[in-house]
Amino acid sequence: MNKRGFLARCALLCGMSALAGAPLGAQAQSDVVKVGLIFSMTGPFASTGRQLEAGVRLYQAQYGDRVAGKKIELIIKDDAGVPEQSRRLAQELVVNDKVQVLAGFSLTPLALSVAPVATQSKTPSVVFVAATSSVIDASPYYVRSSFTLPQVTIGVAEWAPRNGLKNVVSLVSDYGPGIDAESAFKQRFELNGGKVVEAIRVPVRNPDFAPFLQKVRDLKPDAVFVFLPAGVGSAFMKQFTERGLDKAGIRLIATGDVTEDDILADMGDVALGVVTSHHYSAAHPSAANQKFVEAYRKANAGKRPNYMAVAAYDGMRLIHSALQATKGATGDALLDAMKGQSFESPRGPVLIDAQTRDIVQDVYIRRVERRDGELYNVEFDVLKAVHDPGRRGK
Ligand code: PHB
Repeated sequence: MNKRGFLARCALLCGMSALAGAPLGAQAQSDVVKVGLIFSMTGPFASTGRQLEAGVRLYQAQYGDRVAGKKIELIIKDDAGVPEQSRRLAQELVVNDKVQVLAGFSLTPLALSVAPVATQSKTPSVVFVAATSSVIDASPYYVRSSFTLPQVTIGVAEWAPRNGLKNVVSLVSDYGPGIDAESAFKQRFELNGGKVVEAIRVPVRNPDFAPFLQKVRDLKPDAVFVFLPAGVGSAFMKQFTERGLDKAGIRLIATGDVTEDDILADMGDVALGVVTSHHYSAAHPSAANQKFVEAYRKANAGKRPNYMAVAAYDGMRLIHSALQATKGATGDALLDAMKGQSFESPRGPVLIDAQTRDIVQDVYIRRVERRDGELYNVEFDVLKAVHDPGRRGK
């Protein structure tokens, strides 16, 4: 092994052995609980980081930063969407900053990269975004406040065949959540009498949709079912109309990631009528959501929250309530106290399944409509208390 290789190996091993003995001990006695938040604040997924930070800050602004006599200290780090960075930051947060909780992880590969650190250091960690079903299995210290792709996909997969869409092409980002969406859609859609005529996967970074959309056009399906991660939907929508797929009578159906609230208002009329299924819309008609949206807008120069902000807001609630229940104790006790929690979120009722550590929630079918001059995902049907279908039927 050359000198560089040796040093790199040494750094990794030293980091890992420090992790094994890291938490608990002295800081468990202290009156501060440190929460290490790893967000993508720069790079192609920067909008994710902004929404997450705003959700976290809103929760602490509304409910304070003290629980069970402890001050909750937030340490926010930017991984720029790079998995190696996420893991290095998680190691530093645990070993140097001695955080007792980790949270964030804007993409599936980032959550997978942090998982060994959470496991080795026995640090309860709340997954605010990463939505591939299997992420929760990557560490027994993971609890999810976001959603899974199969969970939200089944909504539109059931709606489509009931509404005359029988032949569909699926088009997804070529990585974990996309592949989950593709297979959940096919499974549920075909069970209900539909047929997926072609399954297309597009690159995750800077995708040029043109050749793929041309292929969809040539296939002339009733509809195209789409999953793309948050932030990419506008570019897709633009090319969908530029290529004349709407004029060719091809319907667009999707998971709510494509018409997410952060970008929807600026999409223009091309988005009108698009049917999606998802767990959160800023237009969700409940008093809790109205209060949340108003407060979020006030704190963020009029911008509306999307499903990332809600997951971060609810994730902070999970951490606060669990600390309340343990009277400030951290480690395994805190993890246990997160399991089984249920509450009214701005998205509707949610439960953290104590067995799977995954979130159980309502999934809504929505249509993009103009309300008071702005585009919104307007909910018109609901599947109640949906588990990740890979784990519990539905
Ligand atoms: C993911 O990488 O798991 C992910 C990211 C953004 C989404 C959905 C899933 O909108």
